[in-house]
Amino acid sequence: SRKVKIAPSILSADFANFGAECRAIEDQGADWVHVDVMDGHFVPNLTFGPAMCAAIRPHIRGVMDVHLMISPVDQYLEAYAKAGADVISAHLEAGPHVHRTLQAIKGLGKKAGLAINPGTGIEAVPYLLDLVDVVCVMTVNPGFGGQKLIESAYDKVRALRAMIGDRPIHIEIDGGVTNDNAGALVKAGADVLVAGSTVFKGGSVMKPEVYGANIAAL
Ligand code: DX5
Ligand code: ZN
Repeated sequence: SRKVKIAPSILSADFANFGAECRAIEDQGADWVHVDVMDGHFVPNLTFGPAMCAAIRPHIRGVMDVHLMISPVDQYLEAYAKAGADVISAHLEAGPHVHRTLQAIKGLGKKAGLAINPGTGIEAVPYLLDLVDVVCVMTVNPGFGGQKLIESAYDKVRALRAMIGDRPIHIEIDGGVTNDNAGALVKAGADVLVAGSTVFKGGSVMKPEVYGANIAAL
């Protein structure tokens, strides 16, 4: 069976304490740190730029997983690579040339993620598999934490797992992951679970053990 990774989204962290929050979640068992970049255009919310990613980089020992919810995207890839991202995910819907975008991410020496919105099909995935390290299945409409998982995602994850087979490509789930649905998502074929509200709820940098309990429960 696959080892499942937990990737807390710092969208649910204390925005005044990102360095300490990153250290706390890693100390408490997080595998990847998921960073949600939003541009107020591709999604109806604004978050972090490359300078913020560079600032938190020294506080992350492991994988910095940068999810770009921005359009256009190509002109910003180098800045996020220089900021120290390990995985850079761009959206299938961000423009007409996602193949070029994935090539550019690989050309920068980074792991390439392909993020797919809930209302988008996966017909394009077989043509992109040679360039992809992570397929990020959006299980909410991106823009905000704390939303409910859209149930049609299970069929999509199963179909993706069939397409990917045993290739070394992660299937990451992003949005609405809870203790109640995590098992079914893994059974459907996921191996990376992003979780914002589920990991951060009830905790703080003063009470990091709550993060540990939340990650363990997940
Ligand atoms: C949604 C973001 C997610 C979000 C997940 O736009 O891409 O990463 O923060 O948060 P939860 O786990 O609270 O749904
Ligand atoms: Zn995300």
